[in-house]
Amino acid sequence: MKKNTIKILNQLKEKEDAVILAHYYVDSEIQEIADYIGDSFFLAQLASQLENKTIVMAGVYFMGESIKILNPDKNVLLVDKTADCPMAHMITKEKIETLRNQYEDLAVVCYINSTANIKALSDVCVTSSNALKIVKSLSEKNIFFIPDGNLGRYVAKSIKDKNIIANDGYCPVHNNIDVSELKNLKTKFPKAKVLAHPECNGDILSLADFIGSTKAIIKMAKDDICEEFIIATEKGISYMLEKECPDKKFYFIDSMICHDMKLNSVDKIISALENQNTEVIVDDSIVDKAKIPLNKMLEMGQ
Ligand code: 13P
Ligand code: SF4
Repeated sequence: MKKNTIKILNQLKEKEDAVILAHYYVDSEIQEIADYIGDSFFLAQLASQLENKTIVMAGVYFMGESIKILNPDKNVLLVDKTADCPMAHMITKEKIETLRNQYEDLAVVCYINSTANIKALSDVCVTSSNALKIVKSLSEKNIFFIPDGNLGRYVAKSIKDKNIIANDGYCPVHNNIDVSELKNLKTKFPKAKVLAHPECNGDILSLADFIGSTKAIIKMAKDDICEEFIIATEKGISYMLEKECPDKKFYFIDSMICHDMKLNSVDKIISALENQNTEVIVDDSIVDKAKIPLNKMLEMGQ
């Protein structure tokens, strides 16, 4: 990173009283300059504890939106407002209403990768790091898990005493992997353990030695005695894996790139701070409703 870029960034951060948050999937040049890097749960939780006036989110739209909902008085800037998670839009209000009419005893469990409008219609939010824990502790027997079908089915497999209805949304990056890509890597690196994100399709998950959120994958790679790992999640996680485990080897699935996460860049962070034109705006009435399931997640997901 050029010294001048760092200098400009630091001046702007001071001027705007800004802090930079980044998800593990963004390019390494951003992770290098970010104040905090984490998974979706950590970032949502952290944002409420920060004193800064401005929060810059290097990630995708729903992440900025969640931070804004939890901190409506803060100036929340996205690095690129067009960076959006396609899965967030794979559920409709009508589908939720149909399920609510069908079951009296129903909880709508909403993965954080969703729009503010959908969160506002849900009972509790979850991330991949706390979905099992939260669903297990709900009193309702019937669960409509939205929008991610793969995560919903993964939760359903582990929790047998509930009727979990998984929506049919998916993350294209984690869902559309051909199992032969993983099998080829397993043949090439037979000693490597497979660490997979639960957004992956069932064929991939059935070959995994460990399933967990991005943060859990990093922790597992660090703690496990194994020295080689095949990583079934977005390739941006390589920055933190290599930083945390410099002596271990990691192999990635070539196609696992989230083009929306890659829309973030250091130049765009500078431009967002300079021009203040990427602010996340959420309607007050939606904030009031969507903060209920988000806060419930923060309480239950500790
Ligand atoms: P986590 O960081 O919560 O594991 O989520 C992964 C993801 O797909 C974020 O969009
Ligand atoms: Fe959405 Fe998938 Fe990209 Fe995560 S990796 S932001 S779930 S498209």
